[in-house]
Amino acid sequence: MSGTNGDGTAALQVEEVVRERYSKGAQVREAALCCPVEYDPEFLKRLPEEILERDYGCGDPSQFVREGDVVLDLGSGGGKICYIAAQITGPEGKVIGIDMNDEMLALARKYREELSARFGTPVDFRKGKIQDLALDLDLVAEYLSKNPIDSLDDLARLEEFSEALKRTNPMVPDQSVDLIVSNCVLNLVREADRKQMFSELFRVLKRGGRVAVSDIVSDEEVPSHLKNDPKLWSGCVSGAFTEEGFLRAFEEAGFYGMEIVKRDERPWQVVEGVEFRSMTILAFKGKEGRCLERNQAVIYNGPWKTVTDDDGHTLYRGSRMAVCGKTFRIYTDAGGPYGGEVTPVEPYDAVSPEDAKEFNCRVNAIRDPRETKGIDYDRTQKPDPDLCGPEGCC
Ligand SMILES: C[S@@+](CC[C@H](N)C(=O)[O-])C[C@H]1O[C@@H](n2cnc3c(N)ncnc32)[C@H](O)[C@@H]1O
Repeated sequence: MSGTNGDGTAALQVEEVVRERYSKGAQVREAALCCPVEYDPEFLKRLPEEILERDYGCGDPSQFVREGDVVLDLGSGGGKICYIAAQITGPEGKVIGIDMNDEMLALARKYREELSARFGTPVDFRKGKIQDLALDLDLVAEYLSKNPIDSLDDLARLEEFSEALKRTNPMVPDQSVDLIVSNCVLNLVREADRKQMFSELFRVLKRGGRVAVSDIVSDEEVPSHLKNDPKLWSGCVSGAFTEEGFLRAFEEAGFYGMEIVKRDERPWQVVEGVEFRSMTILAFKGKEGRCLERNQAVIYNGPWKTVTDDDGHTLYRGSRMAVCGKTFRIYTDAGGPYGGEVTPVEPYDAVSPEDAKEFNCRVNAIRDPRETKGIDYDRTQKPDPDLCGPEGCC
């Protein structure tokens, strides 16, 4: 299960050990892979025992599913999160589970028709690697069954077929998903493939889409001898991201508004002093694009004195900060990461996107109230009697 790195140290064949471990885990419950998680019992009571038993998750990202969402579950295993999500999205939504393991897919697919019909939501499981969400491995297997590889030319033809398939019939198309969920999987992916994995998450998500991921993270860098231990890696331990590294990976891929929504106080495992625990985070897509001046402002409500977002805008508590139309929308979106933290200040005369000029988002400028009201604004107003209650005016 291991080769050698360039420096002569042992290198783990990550995919091989992960495949072997979860093929077994799909057939017989493996207690060592289970991390205690509290799911909503209402959703569990409608699921088959076999699926509940082979749960190898470490958190509950299904809490973030909304009605009508197209949900993509990365490393769907026996399908539990998909079947919980299907009970929430309803017929307007859709759920897709991706896994590279045949035995796990067989377990999840066994109940697909029955549960899709019961919940009234389309559910589909596809064979693929989460670091290459365009390549449908069921279609590649079908090609191989008709075109076995006997030579380098055959191999080149397979590569051409795969590339064409990704272009013309991607397993998960660009910008097609509202919510990506994943439960205890990202840590299993080879470190060399992780950058690509995050850009794939970004590619398939719609603008305004969300990610909810539960995973095992470490409080310190994991030493390489632990990373090369097949049992620890495949057991969701030594491939863990560090707590900081996990959030940074989302930031580097272009997501914004990352938030730790749950971090277990007690570690799930401790190995040579390194603590491994479950953490659930949210991330959002949609901060890219043009900045237009629409005379809008926001007032950060506090309690922190200042806060800075993923684009580097700093908000000072109580100050009217000038923001572009895109940032204004992000800050005031009730379903986004900042809903409720700022008070929006709209201009008295709205500026349409067609009439708006470019806005320089790099300057943390205060919006003069005169810009909101208009330079000629000189109204004088007595207390509005309609605002007074029976006990008098404020
Ligand atoms: C720890 S289990 C979690 C399964 C499921 N999410 C759950 O909550 O029970 C990890 C799953 O991820 C799958 N997996 C691991 N690496 C993968 C990869 N690179 N691409 C697709 N699936 C992967 C495994 O086959 C396995 O089913």
